[in-house]
Amino acid sequence: MSHLWSGRFEGDPDAALFEFGASFRFDRRLFPDDVLGSQAWAEALHRAGVLSDKDASAIAGGLQQILAAGSDPAFFQSEPAKGDEDVHAFVERELVHRVGEAGRRLHTGRSRNEQVAVDLRLYLKRRIPEMQRALASVISVLAGQAERAGDALMPSYTHLRRAQPILVAHFFLAHASAFRRDHRRMAFVLQEIDELPLGSGAIAGTSYPIDVKWLAERLGFSRIVANSIDATGDRDFVASFLHTSALAMIHVSRLAEDLILFTSEEFGFMELADTAATGSSLMPQKKNPDPLELVRGKAGRVIGRTAGWLTTMKGLPIGYSKDLQEDKEALFEAEDTLRASLDATASVLGGISLNRAASGRAASGLLLATDVADYLVGKGVPFRDAHEIVGALVRRLLTEGRGFDDLSVDEWRRHSPLFEADVRQAVSASASVARKRTPQSTHPDSVAAALAELKTWLRSAI
Ligand code: ARG
Repeated sequence: MSHLWSGRFEGDPDAALFEFGASFRFDRRLFPDDVLGSQAWAEALHRAGVLSDKDASAIAGGLQQILAAGSDPAFFQSEPAKGDEDVHAFVERELVHRVGEAGRRLHTGRSRNEQVAVDLRLYLKRRIPEMQRALASVISVLAGQAERAGDALMPSYTHLRRAQPILVAHFFLAHASAFRRDHRRMAFVLQEIDELPLGSGAIAGTSYPIDVKWLAERLGFSRIVANSIDATGDRDFVASFLHTSALAMIHVSRLAEDLILFTSEEFGFMELADTAATGSSLMPQKKNPDPLELVRGKAGRVIGRTAGWLTTMKGLPIGYSKDLQEDKEALFEAEDTLRASLDATASVLGGISLNRAASGRAASGLLLATDVADYLVGKGVPFRDAHEIVGALVRRLLTEGRGFDDLSVDEWRRHSPLFEADVRQAVSASASVARKRTPQSTHPDSVAAALAELKTWLRSAI
């Protein structure tokens, strides 16, 4: 069997070790990028006078045919393909098979070390925008839920204890804010990968007069790497993509957790669509949030891939080492997991219905204590003193099993003479949200403005 590097060796490599080192079973995903990179490289060689017109056009024709053949998955499973070490070897063998000697000239001045670097960059250049669209879809469903929620109220939680009343819309928009950061972080990764590594050779550069500026433009890169040694061993951009994906998984996981809680019998603020839940084989009453639990569970994979990849990189000498081949499975698994989790989350979230009576009920009661304190502050009481007065009032209500609503004006006044009859209207969930003043608050106008801004953003993002 002949490999890309068989000349130096006597006989074939050990079959099991060759299989151990081969990456074709997973790097075939880079096929269109590898062909594109080779098309551009052949053109650059031609422009540099290294390839004749005839060879250049034979290579161009051959690569075109190969690209077309790649639309059939069987193409990658052919008998000869089984012996290919990686996607680069596969494309080159197919090319030589089609165009003969001209194909054997394509690799002039080029190394697989820079080829795999350019392929991965090209791959992410086309895949990150798809991930951004998947993120935008989740954000769009969150915006839809926020819109539908209207003026519905719910409690917010800190330490998973009731904190203050909020609009349900404000809760959905909170998650949207996190996903928008992920969308922007993906754009940063796109900026990071926007550098052409070709021209770096195996490590020291290439001896042919390749116009790298032209090549960069041809492949859609706006910059050229600064150093050939660094370029062949640099996978920081893979780490950046993994980190960005891990954070996005953390965000879908936290959203999943909130939805699992809020659709549970204990909270009952929301209801899962029947299509987004599963039953129990034993307990007939169960309606389990399996897809959300899986999303939460799968976050561990992507976090693990990120930690694993950083660990792989940390001991490497500068330049290319075969360890770098591990980048692809990490990247692909993170990408697939995040993509599937975003799609599942968008689907489950779209089917959630709100039980506004239950969420509204939970938004009033003792969690209005801060509003009572603010009432006293409005009458000139220092906040610390108001906090003390209301704390004592809460303690009393808790022992008596009563709420603010049950207090007569006399009872209010026994805690502070500054309480007047209007305290009863001042202390309600809707009054509480209406009292908020800042643009990031749960005031209905602020929430409406945030939603409008989000919808404008979505129009450019999807
Ligand atoms: N399959 C290799 C990888 O994924 C391609 C580069 C191999 N280069 C080498 N000199 N062995 O990293």
